[in-house]
Amino acid sequence: MLQQFNLLAISGSLRSGSSNHNILKYLGSIIPANINYTIYNGLAQIPAFDPGLDTEDAPASVTELRHLLANADGIVICTPEYAFGVPGSLKNMLDWLVSSSSLVDKPVALITASLGGEHAHASLLLTLGALSVKVVDGATLVISFIRSKMGADGSIADKQTQNSVDAAFKAFLMAIE
Ligand SMILES: Cc1cc2nc3c(=O)[nH]c(=O)nc-3n(C[C@H](O)[C@H](O)[C@H](O)COP(=O)(O)O)c2cc1C
Repeated sequence: MLQQFNLLAISGSLRSGSSNHNILKYLGSIIPANINYTIYNGLAQIPAFDPGLDTEDAPASVTELRHLLANADGIVICTPEYAFGVPGSLKNMLDWLVSSSSLVDKPVALITASLGGEHAHASLLLTLGALSVKVVDGATLVISFIRSKMGADGSIADKQTQNSVDAAFKAFLMAIE
């Protein structure tokens, strides 16, 4: 029997109809059968980071997130850029993970799908470095002009973009399996 793996996918956009969420849905549609794939839906419930609350008794949403991460063999982050930076909700979530070491040595794939995206992508790589994650070689991708590359049905309409996403995801899966 094939070994089972758990992947947790996190979108940096809370927007209904988000391109980043749709990319994560696409990845879920091409995932091998031996991988349990969960798209995290708790980002909006994570409170603003407060080091004073960052204890054994952390807020329930943070404890749940840490639990999901502890059980994950790999993490996929797919995010837009806001105001030349990382969306606040995503950065806030990552701040809660500094002390818990939940992401230390976890394989991570990073896709930044945005109008531009380079600033957020570079910034996130720095933050992920601070969290000592294992950003997988070949599993990082910036997709600029994302809205023009998505179909109205939420599919990745641009073939070249889909190929790039496929290649990055393949590199990622090879690293965790
Ligand atoms: C408040 C706001 C600020 C934005 N700032 C940037 C930016 O600095 N750079 C960029 O590439 N896109 C920026 N965008 C455009 C988003 O990248 C674009 O809306 C993208 O589709 C959002 O991702 P989503 O479709 O997953 O929600 C901004 C959008 C909003 C709403």
